[in-house]
Amino acid sequence: MTLPDPSVAAEITHVLVGYSPVMLGKLDAALLAGSVLVVEEPEVIAARGIEDLVGRHRCVGALVAAPSQDEEHPQRVVAAVPRPPRVRAVVPVVEYGVVAAAALAEAWGLPGAGPKAARVLRDKALLRETVAGTDLAQPAWARARRPQDVEDFRARYGGACVLKPAARQASLGVQLLDAGDDTAAAWAHTTTADEATLRAGYPDGGYLVEQRLRGPEVSVEAVVHDGVVGFTNITAKLVQDSRHPVEVGHTVPAALPEGTSEALRGAVQVLVDATGFRSGVLHSEWILDGGRPHLVECAGRLPGGGITVLIDLAYTTDILADLLGVLDADDPRPAPPRRASAGAAVRFLTAPAGLVTDVHGAAEARTAPGVHELHLAVAPGHTVEPVTSSWQRAGFVIATGAHAAEAARRAEYAASRVTLRTVAEGGAER
Ligand SMILES: Nc1ncnc2c1ncn2[C@@H]1O[C@H](COP(=O)(O)OP(=O)(O)OP(=O)(O)O)[C@@H](O)[C@H]1O
Ligand SMILES: [Mg+2]
Repeated sequence: MTLPDPSVAAEITHVLVGYSPVMLGKLDAALLAGSVLVVEEPEVIAARGIEDLVGRHRCVGALVAAPSQDEEHPQRVVAAVPRPPRVRAVVPVVEYGVVAAAALAEAWGLPGAGPKAARVLRDKALLRETVAGTDLAQPAWARARRPQDVEDFRARYGGACVLKPAARQASLGVQLLDAGDDTAAAWAHTTTADEATLRAGYPDGGYLVEQRLRGPEVSVEAVVHDGVVGFTNITAKLVQDSRHPVEVGHTVPAALPEGTSEALRGAVQVLVDATGFRSGVLHSEWILDGGRPHLVECAGRLPGGGITVLIDLAYTTDILADLLGVLDADDPRPAPPRRASAGAAVRFLTAPAGLVTDVHGAAEARTAPGVHELHLAVAPGHTVEPVTSSWQRAGFVIATGAHAAEAARRAEYAASRVTLRTVAEGGAER
């Protein structure tokens, strides 16, 4: 695939690996018209119906179909995308584009994660191996190639474990198992969970079984410039109480003892050093087991789940601009540490599985104190599935407050105003 035409190519300053309508919406206001080239897999372009992306976004100058998710052969995407003459940054947009973004940046002499670090961040087993020699705490773990591997591992921990894909997102296929849970059924779910519209059909990356950590969960979002951690935020995370640990809320900034926050920031620098990560944003997840940060995983891209919005609101900043700044070859801009001046929180809406018959209270939720945004992903007539990954949540509310606790209270109050009624197939209203 070649660039459409030299005059279009000459306008391109930013290459985005992966399609995100939310990010493009922001870049429409922040970058020049026609200055963005989006690289995406042909399968994903078809599945998401974005062949006409150039007409949909002012900032997009071209869409190139290329093997941007072929992590085993990153040279293919490099061969497929010619370097736009005025390109100044390559941005990893989606989880499955992190390796390709690093490969393009490396090939074109632009700042990026670095190919080795990108590969490590895309494989939870490789990440665990990479940090094993550091003083970072992490759970016991093993690669799982068949159900018997899970059985053998669980037996050492009284039947408790976490089974997860090594290279997915959105808690897809992640399961918390306890004594008595059936390994065969769990294996069948974990090894078949997929996100067909976001992922091209490359090999799946394998599976891990881990010791179950217990304790509060947080994530750290860090803007890294040339291997040095600058701006950081710590987010408190809530997860649904089920075998499927799907995120149901985030609060920024997390209320933690200063020593714990310090330990988390230090841990992120250790992670950067161990992986050799150069420039970009890291979204790392931790469980404070026994009060000490234990690494869950780390992504080499901006966080999802509304966390970027929360950060922008709480710090009066623009973390996407920070990311573009550390990736900019012409005008590199490290993002300095900053203190939050307010609190911001998101709470996700869920509903019992079934056919949606009624949605109530949205207007009241939207005008409740501190509410910044209410998004409903379902409407009467839609079918709600059991929530086993982030993609099945029914919507969210984002609220702000003078501090994090007030923002969380407000988001919870607004979310409680929304009633989603569903009726189970052949059953009663719920
Ligand atoms: N070892 C563990 N012990 C306890 N809980 C865990 C463990 N590993 C994962 N979890 C829980 O499962 C969730 C999802 O796991 P993980 O982050 O590895 O998957 P993911 O699909 O990348 O998730 P996401 O994209 O939503 O961050 C975590 O946020 C955490 O709540
Ligand atoms: Mg995670």
